[in-house]
Amino acid sequence: MPLPSVDELSDDLLHTPLCDLLGCRYPLILAGMGGVARAELVTAVTLAGAFGFLGMVREPPELIQEEVAKVRQGTSAAFGVNLIPAATEPGLLTRQVELCIALAVPVVGLFWNVSPSVIGALRAAGIKVVHQVGSVAEALQAQEAGAHALIVQGTEAGGHVRSRQGLDELLPKVLAVAGIPVAAAGGIAAGADVARLLTQGAQAAVLGTALLATRESFAHDFHKLRVVQARATDTILTEAFHVNWPPNAPVRVLKNSVTSGQRGDPFRSPATVIGHELERPIYLFSTDSPLRTMTGDYEAMALYAGCGVEHIREIVPAGQRVASIVAEAVAARGKARRAAVGVASPVCYADETGDDQTTEALRPQILARLDELLEAERAGARLTLRTAAELQDDSLRELVDLVHHDEVKWCAMLARQIRKLHGTPSTRTGAFYDKAIGIGDLPERLAFLNRGQGWVVRKLRELMPMVADPEIVHELGEMLDAHRTNIDKVNDRLAHGGDGPS
Ligand SMILES: Cc1cc2nc3c(=O)[nH]c(=O)nc-3n(C[C@H](O)[C@H](O)[C@H](O)COP(=O)(O)O)c2cc1C
Repeated sequence: MPLPSVDELSDDLLHTPLCDLLGCRYPLILAGMGGVARAELVTAVTLAGAFGFLGMVREPPELIQEEVAKVRQGTSAAFGVNLIPAATEPGLLTRQVELCIALAVPVVGLFWNVSPSVIGALRAAGIKVVHQVGSVAEALQAQEAGAHALIVQGTEAGGHVRSRQGLDELLPKVLAVAGIPVAAAGGIAAGADVARLLTQGAQAAVLGTALLATRESFAHDFHKLRVVQARATDTILTEAFHVNWPPNAPVRVLKNSVTSGQRGDPFRSPATVIGHELERPIYLFSTDSPLRTMTGDYEAMALYAGCGVEHIREIVPAGQRVASIVAEAVAARGKARRAAVGVASPVCYADETGDDQTTEALRPQILARLDELLEAERAGARLTLRTAAELQDDSLRELVDLVHHDEVKWCAMLARQIRKLHGTPSTRTGAFYDKAIGIGDLPERLAFLNRGQGWVVRKLRELMPMVADPEIVHELGEMLDAHRTNIDKVNDRLAHGGDGPS
């Protein structure tokens, strides 16, 4: 019998619903790198089976139109355009969005502050919206504004970094509350990392730096060469490159004369031109990275790079990089699956008394109950986030924030246990959310939240005796105790007077 090809194996081991949403074969996404991800690179990764975003931040509509046309000449597959509303002058942003709609661009990727009006306009025109986010709160904002999918970015990422947490810390938290597909970004350059993130529940991996160091990327060779020579410790998060961006926007770059302070104070020095892109001057401390079309002092420009640089040792065609990452990811997923089949019993929570059959028979019921709890906790997480933002009383807001963090934590725990039992965590949000958010009076809403928390406690009490795995029982027990404590705290606080007029 012939052995299956990498393509056949990858369909089995890597394909996710997000691939169907985006229209690509592999769960790999070229990041919409401004300046760097032009038509040549997008076409190359698309032809290799990945999905590509054109990096069009602040670009004039004429260039966007040209680049979209070039991609369409090279491939009939779907692709995306990346825009950054917060870093774009409003008039230009309107023209960019109108153009994407007129060109019927299949997908638009957005980053930085969530702009409900931009998401709404794109959605209404039938364009899929993918939003890159850096926190749980932002993920919920983007989801509520209508994004079809999210990219969770960790602090390991190259370029502008929205997150304050590493990917492994933030991803499970966002996965816990998201009702839409989630991709992961930041420091990913090896197939084993792609496999690990898919196992955690991400539906795709976003590649920035790994695809910057390819023949087709529009980055200047100086930048590509610095990337292939670098180690993760050669990268640094800094706010030194700030000109032409909103404030407080750290970037991950390769260390250079700017990050070591040799070029002066980024916030006090006079404007200095260090290069040109055709007629356009490039300023010291600006966010422009060196591109093929630039001349000047490349060393002092923003040499964006993520922590995955370690894995990138040569400049290769983009299709080759996609293919090797796919092959590594397939091998890692295949190995993990063989290990699971060979070592574990079909269900890993077998009762220590040996009553495997009873616990196996209960598995669908346990999974259904865990899913029901997950949906309820997700409703709680969304409700407490929104409610905390509306509260005027600081101490009450702190308390609701605390309940929110607990709800996020339990969502992550429930999703993890569902996966451990070979289930797929539900992405739905409990109907409780819609009922509760409709209650305008905040103390009344919190009293309703507490009744919901009481329901969770009852459900946990029913579920715990059905479960044999001591680790799951322990975690459900902790969740139960935390809910009882939070119910008491909120009741106590409400008894002593609630929030002022809202
Ligand atoms: C050179 C470069 C430019 C970037 N420009 C953008 C951009 O214009 N828009 C955007 O959404 N993200 C941008 N990013 C961030 C990526 O979306 C993504 O989060 C990051 O590349 C992932 O980390 P990695 O580089 O380690 O793969 C950029 C990243 C790099 C490396």
